[in-house]
Amino acid sequence: MRKLFLKTWRRAVLVMCAPIFLGRFFQRETGSEYGVGFLRKARLLVRMFRNRFRIVTASGFLDQVVMVSELLRIPRSVAGAVVECGSYCGGSTANLSLVCALVGRTLHVFDSFAGLPEPSAADQLHVLPSVQELRAFEKGDFCGSLETVKSNVQRFGNLGVCRFHVGYFDQTLPGFKEPCVFAFCDVDLRGSLETCIEYLWPLLADRGFLFTHEANHMEIAGLFFDPGWWNAHVHSVPPGLVGGGSGLGLYVSDQGFFRSSIGFAMKNIRPADFAASGSVKPSLLSG
Ligand SMILES: C[S@@+](CC[C@H](N)C(=O)[O-])C[C@H]1O[C@@H](n2cnc3c(N)ncnc32)[C@H](O)[C@@H]1O
Repeated sequence: MRKLFLKTWRRAVLVMCAPIFLGRFFQRETGSEYGVGFLRKARLLVRMFRNRFRIVTASGFLDQVVMVSELLRIPRSVAGAVVECGSYCGGSTANLSLVCALVGRTLHVFDSFAGLPEPSAADQLHVLPSVQELRAFEKGDFCGSLETVKSNVQRFGNLGVCRFHVGYFDQTLPGFKEPCVFAFCDVDLRGSLETCIEYLWPLLADRGFLFTHEANHMEIAGLFFDPGWWNAHVHSVPPGLVGGGSGLGLYVSDQGFFRSSIGFAMKNIRPADFAASGSVKPSLLSG
Protein backbone atom coordinates (compact mmCIF):
# COMPACT_ATOMS: atom_id res chain seq x y z
CA MET A 1 0.00 0.00 0.00
CA ARG A 2 2.79 2.41 1.00
CA LYS A 3 4.71 1.48 -2.17
CA LEU A 4 1.67 2.19 -4.34
CA PHE A 5 1.14 5.54 -2.61
CA LEU A 6 4.79 6.52 -3.14
CA LYS A 7 4.67 5.48 -6.80
CA THR A 8 1.49 7.49 -7.40
CA TRP A 9 2.92 10.48 -5.51
CA ARG A 10 6.12 10.41 -7.60
CA ARG A 11 4.14 10.24 -10.83
CA ALA A 12 2.00 13.18 -9.69
CA VAL A 13 5.13 15.23 -8.93
CA LEU A 14 6.55 14.42 -12.37
CA VAL A 15 3.32 15.52 -14.06
CA MET A 16 3.35 18.78 -12.05
CA CYS A 17 6.95 19.35 -13.13
CA ALA A 18 6.22 18.68 -16.82
CA PRO A 19 6.37 22.40 -17.74
CA ILE A 20 9.95 22.46 -16.40
CA PHE A 21 11.08 19.21 -18.02
CA LEU A 22 9.43 19.94 -21.36
CA GLY A 23 10.02 23.70 -21.36
CA ARG A 24 13.30 23.62 -23.27
CA PHE A 25 12.01 21.03 -25.74
CA PHE A 26 9.03 23.22 -26.66
CA GLN A 27 10.99 26.52 -26.77
CA ARG A 28 10.71 28.10 -30.21
CA GLU A 29 14.51 27.99 -30.74
CA THR A 30 14.52 24.21 -30.25
CA GLY A 31 14.22 22.78 -33.75
CA SER A 32 13.52 26.09 -35.50
CA GLU A 33 16.68 25.88 -37.67
CA TYR A 34 15.40 22.55 -39.01
CA GLY A 35 11.84 23.70 -39.57
CA VAL A 36 10.66 21.54 -36.65
CA GLY A 37 7.86 23.50 -35.00
CA PHE A 38 5.42 22.82 -32.17
CA LEU A 39 3.28 20.22 -33.94
CA ARG A 40 6.19 18.11 -35.19
CA LYS A 41 7.78 18.26 -31.75
CA ALA A 42 4.51 17.19 -30.14
CA ARG A 43 4.22 14.27 -32.57
CA LEU A 44 7.84 13.31 -31.87
CA LEU A 45 7.22 13.38 -28.12
CA VAL A 46 4.17 11.12 -28.43
CA ARG A 47 6.10 8.60 -30.53
CA MET A 48 9.00 8.67 -28.06
CA PHE A 49 6.63 8.13 -25.15
CA ARG A 50 4.84 5.25 -26.86
CA ASN A 51 8.19 3.61 -27.65
CA ARG A 52 8.81 3.35 -23.89
CA PHE A 53 6.12 0.67 -23.80
CA ARG A 54 6.97 -0.99 -27.11
CA ILE A 55 10.71 -1.57 -26.66
CA VAL A 56 12.58 -2.84 -23.59
CA THR A 57 14.69 0.19 -22.68
CA ALA A 58 17.32 0.88 -20.04
CA SER A 59 17.20 4.70 -20.29
CA GLY A 60 14.27 6.83 -19.16
CA PHE A 61 11.84 8.92 -21.19
CA LEU A 62 12.97 12.18 -19.57
CA ASP A 63 16.64 11.27 -20.12
CA GLN A 64 15.81 11.02 -23.79
CA VAL A 65 13.81 14.27 -23.83
CA VAL A 66 16.84 16.13 -22.45
CA MET A 67 19.10 14.66 -25.14
CA VAL A 68 16.66 15.23 -27.97
CA SER A 69 16.17 18.87 -26.93
CA GLU A 70 19.91 19.51 -27.21
CA LEU A 71 20.13 17.66 -30.52
CA LEU A 72 17.41 19.86 -31.99
CA ARG A 73 19.33 22.98 -30.88
CA ILE A 74 22.65 22.14 -32.57
CA PRO A 75 23.17 24.79 -35.24
CA ARG A 76 22.39 23.43 -38.68
CA SER A 77 25.65 24.90 -39.97
CA VAL A 78 27.68 22.53 -37.77
CA ALA A 79 28.17 19.39 -39.83
CA GLY A 80 28.49 16.00 -38.21
CA ALA A 81 26.85 12.75 -37.29
CA VAL A 82 25.22 11.52 -34.10
CA VAL A 83 26.73 8.53 -32.30
CA GLU A 84 25.15 6.08 -29.90
CA CYS A 85 27.35 3.63 -28.02
CA GLY A 86 25.24 1.00 -26.28
CA SER A 87 21.86 0.24 -27.83
CA TYR A 88 20.66 -2.88 -25.90
CA CYS A 89 17.26 -3.61 -27.56
CA GLY A 90 17.16 -0.35 -29.49
CA GLY A 91 14.85 1.78 -27.30
CA SER A 92 17.08 4.85 -27.22
CA THR A 93 18.26 4.05 -30.77
CA ALA A 94 14.70 4.23 -32.12
CA ASN A 95 14.05 7.60 -30.49
CA LEU A 96 17.40 9.08 -31.51
CA SER A 97 16.78 7.85 -35.06
CA LEU A 98 13.47 9.76 -35.18
CA VAL A 99 15.26 13.00 -34.30
CA CYS A 100 18.16 12.30 -36.64
CA ALA A 101 15.64 11.94 -39.47
CA LEU A 102 14.17 15.35 -38.55
CA VAL A 103 17.55 17.11 -38.47
CA GLY A 104 19.09 15.24 -41.43
CA ARG A 105 21.95 13.58 -39.57
CA THR A 106 23.24 10.00 -39.67
CA LEU A 107 23.01 7.93 -36.48
CA HIS A 108 26.01 5.63 -35.97
CA VAL A 109 25.15 2.81 -33.57
CA PHE A 110 28.01 0.97 -31.88
CA ASP A 111 27.43 -2.19 -29.86
CA SER A 112 28.70 -5.73 -29.50
CA PHE A 113 25.04 -6.79 -29.89
CA ALA A 114 26.11 -9.54 -27.49
CA GLY A 115 25.99 -7.58 -24.23
CA LEU A 116 28.74 -6.29 -21.99
CA PRO A 117 32.33 -7.53 -22.33
CA GLU A 118 34.03 -9.15 -19.33
CA PRO A 119 34.23 -6.34 -16.73
CA SER A 120 37.65 -5.55 -15.27
CA ALA A 121 38.03 -5.99 -11.51
CA ALA A 122 37.37 -2.25 -11.07
CA ASP A 123 34.14 -2.50 -13.10
CA GLN A 124 32.56 -5.52 -11.43
CA LEU A 125 30.84 -3.40 -8.79
CA HIS A 126 29.95 0.29 -9.09
CA VAL A 127 28.98 2.58 -6.23
CA LEU A 128 25.89 4.79 -6.62
CA PRO A 129 25.66 6.90 -3.43
CA SER A 130 22.79 9.04 -4.80
CA VAL A 131 20.45 6.03 -4.76
CA GLN A 132 22.42 4.16 -2.07
CA GLU A 133 23.00 1.19 -4.36
CA LEU A 134 25.80 -1.03 -5.57
CA ARG A 135 25.51 -2.13 -9.20
CA ALA A 136 27.12 -5.42 -10.28
CA PHE A 137 28.02 -6.23 -13.89
CA GLU A 138 28.73 -9.47 -15.71
CA LYS A 139 29.77 -10.38 -19.22
CA GLY A 140 26.72 -10.62 -21.50
CA ASP A 141 24.48 -8.29 -19.44
CA PHE A 142 22.14 -6.10 -21.53
CA CYS A 143 22.35 -8.33 -24.58
CA GLY A 144 20.23 -7.19 -27.51
CA SER A 145 20.93 -8.84 -30.85
CA LEU A 146 21.44 -6.87 -34.06
CA GLU A 147 18.23 -8.40 -35.46
CA THR A 148 16.23 -7.24 -32.41
CA VAL A 149 17.59 -3.70 -32.60
CA LYS A 150 17.07 -3.43 -36.35
CA SER A 151 13.55 -4.78 -36.16
CA ASN A 152 12.61 -2.40 -33.30
CA VAL A 153 14.08 0.60 -35.10
CA GLN A 154 12.37 -0.40 -38.34
CA ARG A 155 8.97 -0.65 -36.63
CA PHE A 156 9.19 2.28 -34.23
CA GLY A 157 12.01 4.55 -35.42
CA ASN A 158 13.79 5.36 -38.69
CA LEU A 159 16.13 2.62 -39.88
CA GLY A 160 17.20 4.62 -42.94
CA VAL A 161 19.34 7.07 -40.94
CA CYS A 162 21.16 4.33 -38.96
CA ARG A 163 24.56 2.75 -39.61
CA PHE A 164 25.42 -0.20 -37.38
CA HIS A 165 28.94 -1.00 -36.15
CA VAL A 166 29.01 -4.51 -34.73
CA GLY A 167 31.68 -5.56 -32.22
CA TYR A 168 33.39 -4.48 -29.03
CA PHE A 169 34.25 -0.78 -28.99
CA ASP A 170 38.01 -1.37 -28.97
CA GLN A 171 37.58 -3.14 -32.34
CA THR A 172 35.05 -0.84 -34.01
CA LEU A 173 35.79 2.70 -32.77
CA PRO A 174 39.46 3.03 -33.83
CA GLY A 175 38.41 2.83 -37.50
CA PHE A 176 35.63 5.41 -37.14
CA LYS A 177 36.73 8.83 -38.38
CA GLU A 178 33.52 10.81 -39.05
CA PRO A 179 33.07 14.22 -37.43
CA CYS A 180 30.21 14.18 -34.94
CA VAL A 181 28.11 16.72 -33.09
CA PHE A 182 26.57 14.55 -30.40
CA ALA A 183 27.34 11.26 -28.64
CA PHE A 184 25.27 9.18 -26.25
CA CYS A 185 27.34 6.63 -24.34
CA ASP A 186 25.18 4.22 -22.37
CA VAL A 187 27.80 1.56 -21.78
CA ASP A 188 27.75 0.79 -18.03
CA LEU A 189 31.45 0.05 -17.65
CA ARG A 190 34.19 2.60 -17.11
CA GLY A 191 36.49 0.50 -19.31
CA SER A 192 33.98 0.76 -22.18
CA LEU A 193 33.41 4.47 -21.65
CA GLU A 194 37.15 5.17 -21.67
CA THR A 195 37.37 3.61 -25.15
CA CYS A 196 34.37 5.66 -26.33
CA ILE A 197 35.85 8.93 -25.08
CA GLU A 198 39.32 8.20 -26.38
CA TYR A 199 38.05 7.77 -29.96
CA LEU A 200 34.96 9.99 -30.04
CA TRP A 201 36.08 13.10 -28.17
CA PRO A 202 38.60 14.12 -30.87
CA LEU A 203 35.85 13.73 -33.51
CA LEU A 204 33.32 15.80 -31.56
CA ALA A 205 32.67 19.37 -32.71
CA ASP A 206 33.42 22.22 -30.31
CA ARG A 207 30.40 22.81 -28.06
CA GLY A 208 29.24 19.28 -28.99
CA PHE A 209 27.61 17.13 -26.30
CA LEU A 210 28.70 13.79 -24.92
CA PHE A 211 25.99 12.29 -22.72
CA THR A 212 26.63 9.41 -20.35
CA HIS A 213 23.89 7.31 -18.82
CA GLU A 214 26.07 6.45 -15.84
CA ALA A 215 26.51 9.95 -14.40
CA ASN A 216 25.50 8.68 -10.96
CA HIS A 217 28.16 5.94 -10.88
CA MET A 218 31.12 7.35 -8.95
CA GLU A 219 33.52 5.29 -11.11
CA ILE A 220 32.15 7.02 -14.22
CA ALA A 221 31.61 10.54 -12.87
CA GLY A 222 35.21 10.59 -11.61
CA LEU A 223 36.56 9.95 -15.10
CA PHE A 224 35.26 13.33 -16.31
CA PHE A 225 37.29 15.13 -13.64
CA ASP A 226 40.54 13.16 -13.94
CA PRO A 227 43.30 15.39 -15.41
CA GLY A 228 45.82 12.52 -15.59
CA TRP A 229 43.51 10.35 -17.73
CA TRP A 230 42.42 13.17 -20.06
CA ASN A 231 45.94 14.39 -20.55
CA ALA A 232 47.28 10.90 -21.31
CA HIS A 233 44.43 9.71 -23.56
CA VAL A 234 42.85 12.78 -25.16
CA HIS A 235 45.58 15.41 -24.70
CA SER A 236 43.15 17.85 -23.15
CA VAL A 237 41.90 19.00 -19.78
CA PRO A 238 38.92 17.13 -18.28
CA PRO A 239 35.61 18.75 -19.26
CA GLY A 240 33.78 17.88 -16.02
CA LEU A 241 30.29 16.38 -16.01
CA VAL A 242 26.99 18.23 -15.58
CA GLY A 243 25.02 15.93 -13.31
CA GLY A 244 28.17 14.17 -12.07
CA GLY A 245 27.43 12.07 -8.97
CA SER A 246 23.62 12.16 -8.93
CA GLY A 247 22.59 12.77 -12.55
CA LEU A 248 20.42 15.62 -13.81
CA GLY A 249 17.48 16.22 -11.48
CA LEU A 250 14.69 14.50 -13.40
CA TYR A 251 13.16 11.85 -11.15
CA VAL A 252 12.15 11.91 -7.48
CA SER A 253 14.45 9.77 -5.33
CA ASP A 254 13.82 8.02 -2.01
CA GLN A 255 16.45 10.32 -0.52
CA GLY A 256 14.21 13.36 -0.94
CA PHE A 257 15.78 15.04 -3.95
CA PHE A 258 15.65 14.87 -7.73
CA ARG A 259 18.11 12.57 -9.48
CA SER A 260 18.67 10.52 -12.63
CA SER A 261 21.41 8.53 -14.35
CA ILE A 262 22.00 11.00 -17.14
CA GLY A 263 24.68 13.68 -17.34
CA PHE A 264 26.68 15.43 -20.03
CA ALA A 265 30.02 16.97 -20.90
CA MET A 266 30.44 19.72 -23.49
CA LYS A 267 33.58 20.08 -25.57
CA ASN A 268 35.67 23.25 -25.50
CA ILE A 269 33.09 25.63 -24.10
CA ARG A 270 34.17 29.24 -23.69
CA PRO A 271 32.43 31.98 -21.70
CA ALA A 272 31.93 33.85 -24.98
CA ASP A 273 29.61 31.06 -26.18
CA PHE A 274 27.23 31.73 -23.33
CA ALA A 275 27.52 35.47 -23.86
CA ALA A 276 26.37 34.94 -27.45
CA SER A 277 23.19 33.28 -26.24
CA GLY A 278 22.57 36.11 -23.80
CA SER A 279 22.68 33.87 -20.75
CA VAL A 280 26.01 34.86 -19.23
CA LYS A 281 26.45 36.66 -15.92
CA PRO A 282 28.97 39.53 -16.34
CA SER A 283 31.23 37.99 -13.67
CA LEU A 284 31.78 34.95 -15.89
CA LEU A 285 33.16 37.12 -18.65
CA SER A 286 35.62 39.13 -16.61
CA GLY A 287 38.95 37.32 -16.31
C1 LIG B 1 22.62 -0.37 -20.66
S1 LIG B 1 22.78 -1.04 -22.24
C2 LIG B 1 22.27 0.29 -23.29
C3 LIG B 1 20.85 0.71 -23.07
C4 LIG B 1 20.21 1.49 -24.18
N1 LIG B 1 20.92 2.72 -24.47
C5 LIG B 1 18.78 1.80 -23.81
O1 LIG B 1 18.46 2.97 -23.56
O2 LIG B 1 18.00 0.86 -23.72
C6 LIG B 1 24.51 -1.11 -22.45
C7 LIG B 1 24.94 -1.56 -23.84
O3 LIG B 1 26.33 -1.29 -24.00
C8 LIG B 1 26.91 -2.34 -24.76
N2 LIG B 1 28.36 -2.34 -24.44
C9 LIG B 1 28.94 -2.03 -23.25
N3 LIG B 1 30.27 -2.11 -23.36
C10 LIG B 1 30.56 -2.45 -24.64
C11 LIG B 1 31.76 -2.63 -25.37
N4 LIG B 1 32.97 -2.51 -24.79
N5 LIG B 1 31.68 -2.92 -26.68
C12 LIG B 1 30.46 -3.06 -27.29
N6 LIG B 1 29.28 -2.90 -26.65
C13 LIG B 1 29.32 -2.59 -25.34
C14 LIG B 1 26.16 -3.59 -24.34
O4 LIG B 1 26.21 -4.58 -25.33
C15 LIG B 1 24.74 -3.04 -24.12
O5 LIG B 1 23.97 -3.18 -25.28
